Amino acid sequence: MSAVLITGGASGIGRATAVALAETGQAVALWDLNREGMAETAALCHELGVACSFSVVDVANSAQRVEALNAAVDVHGGIHGLVHAAGVTGPEPITTFTPENWDFVISINLTAAAALTYEVAPHLKLSEGGSIVYLSSVLGWFGHEWLPAYCTSKAGLLGLTRASSHELAKVGVRVNAVCPGYIETPMTEPLLAIPGLENNVVGTTPLGRLGQPRDIADVIVFLLSDKARFVTGASLVVDGGLTSISAI
Ligand SMILES: NC(=O)c1ccc[n+]([C@@H]2O[C@H](COP(=O)([O-])OP(=O)(O)OC[C@H]3O[C@@H](n4cnc5c(N)ncnc54)[C@H](O)[C@@H]3O)[C@@H](O)[C@H]2O)c1
Repeated sequence: MSAVLITGGASGIGRATAVALAETGQAVALWDLNREGMAETAALCHELGVACSFSVVDVANSAQRVEALNAAVDVHGGIHGLVHAAGVTGPEPITTFTPENWDFVISINLTAAAALTYEVAPHLKLSEGGSIVYLSSVLGWFGHEWLPAYCTSKAGLLGLTRASSHELAKVGVRVNAVCPGYIETPMTEPLLAIPGLENNVVGTTPLGRLGQPRDIADVIVFLLSDKARFVTGASLVVDGGLTSISAI
């Protein structure tokens, strides 16, 4: 049986996606820098009776990606889905810009997504209904003064979604993006620790709470599934209504 490849599978949304897919009986291959976190995710999948492999991979490293992709295909017999959830924020206002910090964020969040699409597409083509989901963000649509590289990478993923969906539609592969709002994960822990920020987010979210990783994972599972067979090139905002409200 083939597997869904999940980058960032050691934590947060990547982990929740692995478990949600395992609940549907789908095998998963995890890539992350965090071996311990991946082992914990794998244990959750194994409890559900589903195959789960994991490899320590820096998604920005091309040689590591190619080696780990070959290994995942060998172990699982194929790849029928890709979820690019690995990501970093790299807080840094534009006034303190350095090329190194900028490239660090862009290479993991955006360039790795494009490279992975190119590398994994031949395997997705071989499966019936192969599909890709990128983790963009509501910050792909809106700016944030602390996070110019992050906002740029997430907006770039929306362009990549549209452009690659055209090319890959010809070979039956769908490409979509999910744009989460504020989700409680290790990534948002430092932000939500800022006094008043959590109350402000919850107060301006029509559904009146922060998001949980599973809120996003369930949408990703839908987009990867045959139920979304006519959905491609789309960006789905999953934010409890946060960005539906005008500040005016
Ligand atoms: N949490 C949110 O509120 C939120 C909102 C919008 C978008 N997102 C996006 O969702 C995705 C998942 O975020 P999360 O909140 O689960 O964060 P997280 O920090 O819990 O998980 C991110 C994972 O990516 C891994 N990672 C980082 N750099 C890597 C690299 N070079 N190679 C391999 N793995 C690497 C980390 O080790 C970590 O396990 C990210 O792309 C993030 O930008 C999150």
